[in-house]
Amino acid sequence: MDSAHVESDLVNILFTEEQIQAKIAEMARKIEADYDGEELLVVGVLKGAVMVMADMARALNRHVEMDWMAVSSYGSGTKSSGVVRILKDLDTDIQGRHVLIVDEIIDTGLTLSWLVSNLASRGPKSVAIATLLRKPDAVAMPVDVKYVGWDIPNEFVVGYGLDHNEKYRNMRDIGTLAPHVYS
Ligand code: PRP
Repeated sequence: MDSAHVESDLVNILFTEEQIQAKIAEMARKIEADYDGEELLVVGVLKGAVMVMADMARALNRHVEMDWMAVSSYGSGTKSSGVVRILKDLDTDIQGRHVLIVDEIIDTGLTLSWLVSNLASRGPKSVAIATLLRKPDAVAMPVDVKYVGWDIPNEFVVGYGLDHNEKYRNMRDIGTLAPHVYS
């Protein structure tokens, strides 16, 4: 969906489809260099990471394996507890493998910090994170993010996998949602 179709729901367009693709290509070049000569498993975190996984995997000019996890915080109001449960686990045994978690946004950082320690306990060769967007709270979290597309303000952003009540995920651009939509 083009963002023009929901223009009145948005305060602004934060990143256009073209800017997103250019950023992903830039990140892909760094990933290629860092994992040169190594096998790599990229792990997407459902559902938001579907778009960035699809584009990142295709931007990488090398073989990668892809796997998926689905996780959920316990209860909607307890996200800050950092307690996460696995709804869908990896199909892959990651022991002795390089793992790169790919996500579209790190907000509080709790999901990804939990995920990194969970995957690290399975004996991989390495676990790292690539995220397209990162919010300020996550900058303060003790989670080491190896690849960041953009640091963004603490605003409600939608599009390119990011939703509000499951809508806007299929919007090509990333935009700031207008308060009248969610308040
Ligand atoms: C988003 C995103 C991250 C998580 C980050 O997923 O994909 O996994 O939130 O938030 P945190 O840094 O505060 O932990 P969400 O829970 O919205 O699920 P979704 O991907 O299915 O939309």
